[in-house]
Amino acid sequence: MTASMTAEKLPNSTIRLRAIEHDDLPALQSWWNDPDLWREIGSRRRLTALAHVETWYEELLERTEPHEGRTFAIADDAGRLLGTAWYSAFDLADRHSEIGLYIGDEYDRNHGYGAVACRALASYLFNELGLNKLRLIVSCDNLRAIGCYEKVGFSREGLLRQHRFFAGSFHDFLLMGLLATELKRS
Ligand SMILES: CC(C)(COP(=O)(O)OP(=O)(O)OC[C@H]1O[C@@H](n2cnc3c(N)ncnc32)[C@H](O)[C@@H]1OP(=O)(O)O)[C@@H](O)C(=O)NCCC(=O)NCCS
Repeated sequence: MTASMTAEKLPNSTIRLRAIEHDDLPALQSWWNDPDLWREIGSRRRLTALAHVETWYEELLERTEPHEGRTFAIADDAGRLLGTAWYSAFDLADRHSEIGLYIGDEYDRNHGYGAVACRALASYLFNELGLNKLRLIVSCDNLRAIGCYEKVGFSREGLLRQHRFFAGSFHDFLLMGLLATELKRS
């Protein structure tokens, strides 16, 4: 992927996936420590010092091969960081991978940025890296995320009962999948 790739023009903004820069790390640290974000994601908050984010970033920079997985910044046309999108568990034999994303601040959610970023990541993985299928898991309570993924073309493939424990109880998750032929442009 080039340093900056135009994802799609929305009425008020152009959303891009770009490389994460060192200046992005303080924002990432604040999101990694945000309990509301992690509750929505459906996981436990990571209590993370800036030094841990720096270490993570150094390791990210070392990853140059597609199969190692990558994390990209989601940014608007002014370069403002909105969140991150990543892929992992890259399997070239079966040509599938796992993906995930978040928009860090609540006031930036529900504007279509997530769907645009998800489409951009999926296009990159299908068209540039030759994958055939993407999968993700999402908490059954996270209706906004499910709505976002269905807009992009993901289908519900299975129910993972009591899959994770957070906020004092077990939570069911959905397994969702997207074939290359199913990606919806808008
Ligand atoms: C999930 C996330 C990435 C989606 O990005 P986003 O920019 O907010 O999503 P979008 O605006 O592109 O799409 C959301 C869709 O869900 C719909 N939606 C929102 N709340 C909903 C609800 N309670 N029930 C049903 N649909 C809902 C929206 O109307 C929208 O669909 P529309 O454009 O057809 O109206 C973002 O909200 C986020 O980062 N949330 C916190 C972290 C998280 O949950 N990450 C995903 C973990 S799997």
